Amino acid sequence: MLKSIIKGTGHFVPENVVTNEDLAKRMSTTDEWITERTGIKERHHRANRNDSEITTAYLGCKASEMAMKNAAITAQEIDHIIFATLSSDYFFPGNGVLLQEMLGCRTIGALDVRNQCSGFVYAMSVANAFIKSGLYKNILVVGAEIHSFGLDFSDAGRGISVIFGDGAGAVVLSASEDENAGDILAVNLHSEGKYAEELCTKFPGSKFGWSDRMHLEPEAVTDHEIYPIMNGNFVFKHAVTRFPETIAEALADAGKSVEDLDLFIPHQANLRISQFVQQKLGLPDEKVFNNIQKYGNTTAASIPLALSEAVEQGRLKRGDLLCMSAFGSGFTWGSVLLNY
Ligand code: COA
Repeated sequence: MLKSIIKGTGHFVPENVVTNEDLAKRMSTTDEWITERTGIKERHHRANRNDSEITTAYLGCKASEMAMKNAAITAQEIDHIIFATLSSDYFFPGNGVLLQEMLGCRTIGALDVRNQCSGFVYAMSVANAFIKSGLYKNILVVGAEIHSFGLDFSDAGRGISVIFGDGAGAVVLSASEDENAGDILAVNLHSEGKYAEELCTKFPGSKFGWSDRMHLEPEAVTDHEIYPIMNGNFVFKHAVTRFPETIAEALADAGKSVEDLDLFIPHQANLRISQFVQQKLGLPDEKVFNNIQKYGNTTAASIPLALSEAVEQGRLKRGDLLCMSAFGSGFTWGSVLLNY
């Protein structure tokens, strides 16, 4: 029986730190408001908003290099790439192929996943199925985002722009037949597309007459279409319901209980959401990992970025039972429960 083991983890963020005070110079907001509502103190944004080198694929590449180093494997040994992002370098093609080229991998398959905040959980579930079927042995699973190029830093966008940051995380997921090795024990994925417009970016999309409107009536393309829009309260309420549901489902599928968990890594959407879920599950602080205070919400990157830091800081050890759960745009949500 093949097992899926996390052989190595990595992460990378652009150097440039943007504090809440920095944002307060650009829009009507305060450190107090942002801290109280979200827990975020700072985030990383690439220094130049229009940089064409520090891209989402570049961040993903740096995180992947660290993950491969920690896994002690080379780019030649990677036999598949799964790249989760909502902020790809091009409208198409996706970022998987760009990473294949940047890393100098063989002409392996490169799959893109676009499930936003749940992207990494979806990507891991696909990688797990590929490994368990015997199709691939070493899969690079990446989540990366450059949000800073596409946010509205005027007052109109302050409800969203203060939350998001740039960053990347990566995992080498490998096949193992070692009876002592860890394994992915349970996965669940969910969606509810009727809420697509509660958290979305509309443009460019086939529903919004992209080419004609850009060329014939560019002034009619509104900020509301170009920038992400979010019904914050609505998202919050659904998130705090769906997180406990998906975690309970994963634990039940694996025949485990909350008490068995050694670490819970929630998608870093908002510290208040994570704390609400922690309280509902009755988990002590040492069993929940949060780093949103330093990075903001990095969407598909948030879980692998937290995972990599948790490993680095010794918060996650071999043999530990780990649950990673996400909720976000779509709506989509799900969990991966594994023995690390
Ligand atoms: N600084 C200061 N004031 C702000 C602000 C900012 N950055 N953004 C919004 N406000 C104002 C609003 O204009 C509003 O003012 P009003 O009462 O005069 O109209 C007030 O603050 C309250 O706005 P509201 O949107 O109701 O705040 P909230 O308490 O719902 O908090 C979020 C907003 C976004 C922090 C919160 O809804 C949230 O975290 N939602 C979940 C979002 C999330 O996690 N998304 C990630 C996807 S998984």
